[in-house]
Amino acid sequence: MAKQPIKKNQEVETTGHQWDGIEEYNNPLPRWWLWTFYACIVWGLWYVIAYPAWPLVQGATAGYKGWSTRANVAAELAEAEAANAAINAKLEAVELTEISGDPELQGYATSAGNAVFKTWCAQCHGSGAAGAKGYPNLLDNDWLWGGTIEDIHTTIAHGIRNTEDPDARYSQMPAFGDILETAQIDQVVNYVMSMSGEPQDASMVAEGQTVFMDNCAACHGEAGEGDIYQGAPNLADAIWLYGGSFDTIKETVTYSRFGVMPPMGGADLSEAEIRAVAIYVHQLGGGE
Ligand code: HEC
Ligand code: HEC
Repeated sequence: MAKQPIKKNQEVETTGHQWDGIEEYNNPLPRWWLWTFYACIVWGLWYVIAYPAWPLVQGATAGYKGWSTRANVAAELAEAEAANAAINAKLEAVELTEISGDPELQGYATSAGNAVFKTWCAQCHGSGAAGAKGYPNLLDNDWLWGGTIEDIHTTIAHGIRNTEDPDARYSQMPAFGDILETAQIDQVVNYVMSMSGEPQDASMVAEGQTVFMDNCAACHGEAGEGDIYQGAPNLADAIWLYGGSFDTIKETVTYSRFGVMPPMGGADLSEAEIRAVAIYVHQLGGGE
């Protein structure tokens, strides 16, 4: 199609501007557009007054509606807390050992405890509670400090070897580098290895046993079975907190270890939360 020459509409004013013979119309804005524009301005002004809008040095103007995401979250949390208040009160009031007999309470404690675990425990014990070097696996039936619900509750509430809680569980294995000859340490390490598997040097095992009975059995037991009253690990079960290689055991015996867990009672967790996470850990599989 041939291009039509654009006809100049004589009825419309021009702005008077001209560029190389091209003039600019001064058409009025369409009504609908103009009203939408005014409506946007009014809405914008109202919004700025009603909602937090202007940034200040600290925070922002509050807005007359007083709306804030922080307050909304706080309100939702308060609502959730209020909804759980009754069952939390019940959880705090019953005997620890009775919780598992009450399916409703047990179910609530397990799922609430799972949430507590993810927030407060997973960074050390792993999100699946399988632990890591120095951080015990909570899935197995091997307990340093005992696996009854009361034992687990005490461990969680007061922690281990921390300075914050006077009731924290405490024990200290001596650093045998200052006590025994290097040769004796090599012997006892071989003996410890022989309790759960192959020693590195079988010729040292007999002498190692003597060293063990004299220096280690008081805490770890004559058969290396461990002692939950001192948090002394079982050395005969091939489950290692720090590791079962010759070098790692030698390091443990020479310098000792000092595993610390912070207390969760007091400011951090409520009694209901501590009980919930204790129930959660207890039912993971290893609970006695
Ligand atoms: C800062 C790291 C850390 C955090 C956080 C932590 N733990 Fe521990 N936990 C440890 C260490 C380390 C030990 C082992 C201490 C030792 O060597 O006796 C331990 C031991 C335990 C034990 C004893 C295991 C046994 O075999 O007797 C339990 C149960 C336990 N933790 C549960 C929890 C729970 C539940 C939480 C969260 C509420 C938690 N821990 C948070 C570091 C931590
Ligand atoms: C006063 C009690 C005590 C005595 C004595 C003692 N231990 Fe221990 N031992 C402990 C405690 C408590 C731990 C756990 C330390 C920790 O978790 O921080 C431990 C941990 C260990 C571990 C680490 C186990 C693992 O799972 O990684 C080994 C190995 C060990 N001891 C060997 C020995 C040997 C060998 C002797 C004797 C030469 C000895 N212990 C003497 C209390 C003792």
